[in-house]
Amino acid sequence: MTDTPGLTETLDQAWGLLDLAISEGRSPLRYVTLATVDGNAAPQVRIVVLRKVDRASGQLTAYTDKRSDKVGQLRQNPQVALHLWSPDNLVQLRMNGTAWVTQGSVEAWDAVPEHMREAYGHVPPPGTTIDRSDDWAIRPDPAYFAALDITLSRIESVCLDPAGHRRANFERADGWIGHWLSP
Ligand SMILES: Cc1cc2nc3c(=O)[nH]c(=O)nc-3n(C[C@H](O)[C@H](O)[C@H](O)COP(=O)(O)O)c2cc1C
Repeated sequence: MTDTPGLTETLDQAWGLLDLAISEGRSPLRYVTLATVDGNAAPQVRIVVLRKVDRASGQLTAYTDKRSDKVGQLRQNPQVALHLWSPDNLVQLRMNGTAWVTQGSVEAWDAVPEHMREAYGHVPPPGTTIDRSDDWAIRPDPAYFAALDITLSRIESVCLDPAGHRRANFERADGWIGHWLSP
């Protein structure tokens, strides 16, 4: 007999870390890496802040500027990967899913603190070539405020437990039962 966590505890831990990411304490876990595929089939990665986590539906939400490159990429190919590393737990989460871009709701816009709204209103649009580093302005505009709703299809957890590394894969397609993998 061993008392190492089983598959159920491992999935619970994964969702626990995602819940922690959106907790009031502004955990650094909220910064996740989001990967998309661009028009040349090249992977593109960037940090986004997790805003909502819903285990029941297996969905995550981030906010972005509707004019950003990632939105154009997602309209062509909604497949995404996400990455999170918890140094406290020595756990890496790798997730896959499908993202839908929607207009951010009025309620969500109202809940964004004033000083953070500037992320949704850079002029010219994000990614535009400019002559000088400061050749841009901040014009927050709810019209540019978009939600990325991500429906997860897979969560893989790798734990670097000093007592023995563990790697488990969970798929929506099989009801999140989970399987162990050689780490
Ligand atoms: C700490 C940090 C947090 C960020 N949070 C977000 C975010 O929540 N949403 C977002 O669209 N971009 C966020 N960004 C900016 C993106 O990483 C990226 O630079 C920007 O969205 C443009 O990406 P794109 O050209 O691939 O669309 C963040 C950047 C950093 C460094």
